[in-house]
Amino acid sequence: MVLLESEIPKKNILSVTKIKPMDGTFKNNFDIPIHRWYPYIEGFSINFVRSILNNYPQNIIVYDPFNGSGTTTLTASSMGIKSYASEVNPFMRFIANTKVNVVKSILENNEIFVLNKTFKDLCDKLLDTNYRKKVFKECKTVNDCYIEKDFFDKKVLQDISYIKYLIKSINNDDIGNIALLSLASITVEISNMIRAADLRKKTLKEKELASNSTIDLFIQKFSNVISDIQSVRNMNFEVTEFISDNAKSISKNYYNTVDLVITSPPYVNGTNYFRNTKLELWILDFISKETDLKVYREQAITAGINNVSVNNKINPLDIVEPYAKQLDKLSTDKRIPKMIRAYFSDMNVVFKNFNLLLKNNGRIYFDIGDSEYYGIHIPVDELIVSIANSNGFKLIECKLLRKRHSKTGNTLSQKLLIFDKE
Ligand SMILES: C[S@@+](CC[C@H](N)C(=O)[O-])C[C@H]1O[C@@H](n2cnc3c(N)ncnc32)[C@H](O)[C@@H]1O
Repeated sequence: MVLLESEIPKKNILSVTKIKPMDGTFKNNFDIPIHRWYPYIEGFSINFVRSILNNYPQNIIVYDPFNGSGTTTLTASSMGIKSYASEVNPFMRFIANTKVNVVKSILENNEIFVLNKTFKDLCDKLLDTNYRKKVFKECKTVNDCYIEKDFFDKKVLQDISYIKYLIKSINNDDIGNIALLSLASITVEISNMIRAADLRKKTLKEKELASNSTIDLFIQKFSNVISDIQSVRNMNFEVTEFISDNAKSISKNYYNTVDLVITSPPYVNGTNYFRNTKLELWILDFISKETDLKVYREQAITAGINNVSVNNKINPLDIVEPYAKQLDKLSTDKRIPKMIRAYFSDMNVVFKNFNLLLKNNGRIYFDIGDSEYYGIHIPVDELIVSIANSNGFKLIECKLLRKRHSKTGNTLSQKLLIFDKE
């Protein structure tokens, strides 16, 4: 099935022409207070979400089932719009929750003064070598998960341990979370790893370039985070409610309550969201052994071969079989056709949930990219349109956001699909 412009009903078309190609990436967020706290290359931008939400009143509920670093929920909340979220990665939930609900709580409880005071006290202790020597034995705050691996230099791990020890003594949870977020945001930078698409070891040159002191970087980051909070002190944030960890499983309590979905699901391109955040998951104690990652991976949308397991619940879809069967023949790695079947089976469950969650006339903004394996083009957008149709949604607009390229150099695309509940 090829989506022809002429086949898309013209009524109800909403102008999303203000969305620019870069808005489908995280890049613009680096200049925006709070959005810039945690660099999430898999994210989209505030401009993307704002261009959509500008068309709506405040009294709606927006849901992002793949909330990641919380671009949708933070943008909505800062525009006075209530948001719901699902996110399977507990570290990303922590980031998105802190950016909205913790900031909201600090502002509403007039905690900026206490925040500044706590920061000052923390800096004094961070730089006090005598105090550090005194409490050295108590500073065993990093669990054993990857302790044997070469992810951090020994001195850096000791610094992290000391920072965490001091954060634990902060007796205000909101402020403690802001401090932890600051530490998490520099974790990759101070490690021996780099996130360039995937997490990998730094080259010697990359390591030299990033050779700042952990304590200095932490102080700088925490100070920037506080400045951002001060810069939004006159804004009213609406709350974000985390309605489930997993977009595939939603409580009945939320049925028929959502007006809009704005989301970018995992593309079927193998991004390993858990491996990419394993350092932060470890340092913030969301995992204490490597096998803990498997539990999260198995709940996630099957979008990479690492998510493929015997536990995947797959209901193969007829529309996917022509592609999966070609891959059965061509793939030396049998996990690839299984991944393709599982991905669309998962997406079918997600769209069933959209139907239950969205009010009549509710709308979905779905940012998606297509894929290619063994030279077989998988028209993810077209398959998603079929899945949406069979779950009670009609396509009202399909906008090309960006052209991308497969490993073999073929053109792939990033598109925005807009659906209305029928
Ligand atoms: C492309 S990212 C979303 C980024 C987000 N738009 C942002 O700006 O930060 C997709 C997210 O979906 C999450 N995810 C994968 N499977 C999930 C599931 N079954 N339920 C909820 N979230 C899931 C991943 O952990 C990842 O954070």
